[in-house]
Amino acid sequence: MNAHKLIDGKAAAGRVLAQVKKEVADLVIDGINPCLAVILVGEDPASQVYVRNKVLRAEESGILSIEHKLSADTSEAKVLNLIHVLNSDPAVHGILLQLPLPKHIEETRALQAIDPRKDVDGFHSENVGGLSQGRDVLTPCTPTGCMYLLRETLGDLRGKHAVVVGRSNIVGKPMAALLLQADCTVTVLHSRSRNPQDLARQADIVIAAVGRPRMIDASWLKPGAVVIDVGINRIQDGDRSRLVGDVDTDDVLSLVSAVTPVPGGVGPMTIAFLMKNTVIAARQQFKAQQPSEAACLSIS
Ligand code: GUN
Repeated sequence: MNAHKLIDGKAAAGRVLAQVKKEVADLVIDGINPCLAVILVGEDPASQVYVRNKVLRAEESGILSIEHKLSADTSEAKVLNLIHVLNSDPAVHGILLQLPLPKHIEETRALQAIDPRKDVDGFHSENVGGLSQGRDVLTPCTPTGCMYLLRETLGDLRGKHAVVVGRSNIVGKPMAALLLQADCTVTVLHSRSRNPQDLARQADIVIAAVGRPRMIDASWLKPGAVVIDVGINRIQDGDRSRLVGDVDTDDVLSLVSAVTPVPGGVGPMTIAFLMKNTVIAARQQFKAQQPSEAACLSIS
């Protein structure tokens, strides 16, 4: 049996969330209750499930949550106005705009409207740029969760060759930046890459983030690789539908040293790090409100 090779993302997320719960309790003692505002525009079924899970995890962690559910025909101006209201509300520490948005709302404009200090998704250009410069900024939740799993599995990542399959703004690009920050040698593969399997077979770490069901099979991997499967694809299996990743887990299991399952791998980590980012944002906003030590000294 190779079941021991499956990385338990649910258990790891439980450990992160237990830590988050403690940090929330400490902040509450300081008089600040972290609060996450979630905006959902439209009725996309998968987004509805994600948002419900995010709100549930927030409640379990002691984080206040505010849900703004807007109809699919809400104008861009209304969404921008709501973001501005939340930006200027000192009781709100994190703002999450669930993607995808209806086509008439420009995604970049909406994401750029979020105050970077409240950008718990790490999608604002201020945070994207900060990550690529190695500054201490809010980083995207899914790649941050993947890094946590990699460190738990491999320990020191320095010098490892990591291949990221996929170059999305949400996962592929920030994943590559985080791996680089951890001193990995990073290759990003995409739909125009030549001989992608040959390149991926050189990797110690493979991150699959393409959104194609079970695309990565054993022919992509060298023996002993660690594989992180970010894909969540719904497929029809006979008369029922089920979730599969971008990795053909059954095919790779005997070859790899560890792989994340779908479901129960990366998915729970994304939500756990959304909670972690909300706590980080709340703490930073609280600190920014406190008079600085220098100011206190000059007053006394
Ligand atoms: N839709 C799918 N994944 C994400 C995510 O990580 N953040 C947001 N805001 N929307 C998403």
